[in-house]
Amino acid sequence: MLVNSKEMLLKAKENHYAIPHFNINNLEWTKYILEEMEILQKPVILGVSENANQYMGGFHVVSNLVKSLIQDLKITIPVCLHLDHGTSFESCKNAIDAGFTSVMMDASKMPLEENIKITRQVVEYAHSKGITVEAEIGHIGGSEDNIISSGMNAQLDECIRFVKETGLDSLAPALGSVHGLYHGEANLDFETMKEISESVEIPLVLHGGTGIPDDKIKKAIYCGISKININTELQTAWYQSVKDFIAHTNIYDPRKIIGSGEQSIKQKVKEKTVMFMNR
Ligand code: 13P
Repeated sequence: MLVNSKEMLLKAKENHYAIPHFNINNLEWTKYILEEMEILQKPVILGVSENANQYMGGFHVVSNLVKSLIQDLKITIPVCLHLDHGTSFESCKNAIDAGFTSVMMDASKMPLEENIKITRQVVEYAHSKGITVEAEIGHIGGSEDNIISSGMNAQLDECIRFVKETGLDSLAPALGSVHGLYHGEANLDFETMKEISESVEIPLVLHGGTGIPDDKIKKAIYCGISKININTELQTAWYQSVKDFIAHTNIYDPRKIIGSGEQSIKQKVKEKTVMFMNR
């Protein structure tokens, strides 16, 4: 069942666990995640970056792919199809019009006033269609889809104002996590995380979930995180398996090559979901 993120995230906030957001890249990725989450019987958010969307052919392709897999695989869990780091109102609108059930408007590089203005515009359109909106404040650093940026932490007063003036559904405050692989340990500002969570009613999102040790993930959930984004860790798990497969066989069937990473992806999906959702 394709749903927006509202109910699943509010339930997660209320019950102190986090919903997994896994980024998808292609048919196989999407199929493996849905199959594993169906076994686990847990809700899931499928994140699609603008680059991944372009790679797969566009918003209609992605939306129809996810809807068709839900139908043909007889998936019964709540599935949210989410635009990850949308960079403009048009991009968010196109995703919504094609059937996405949630969008992230990421104007975090812009001055706060601009971020508020564009996010509010997206919220107005999205809510008129029953679609949920996430946005970022401060700026999450690291490397995502080959775009490298430096981080800047969110401030409590700006978060409170941002939520009040935009009416958005979930907030991703940059608090030290980075996209991609960490160089050294993740240094998360748990104190501010807790203060933000207690000061705004909406659920908080942790980007850059890859490479954060389990104890810090648990602490982040305790401090109010209700959604955790994972991308790189599924890619590296898949890559290791496919690399070994190619090194040790002469099989050239693309289904077998791509499929040699299936169990690694499923294992990672299970590991993360159990850790995020079992208290
Ligand atoms: P990682 O690639 O670090 O797991 O981050 C994913 C993410 O935050 C997507 O928005």
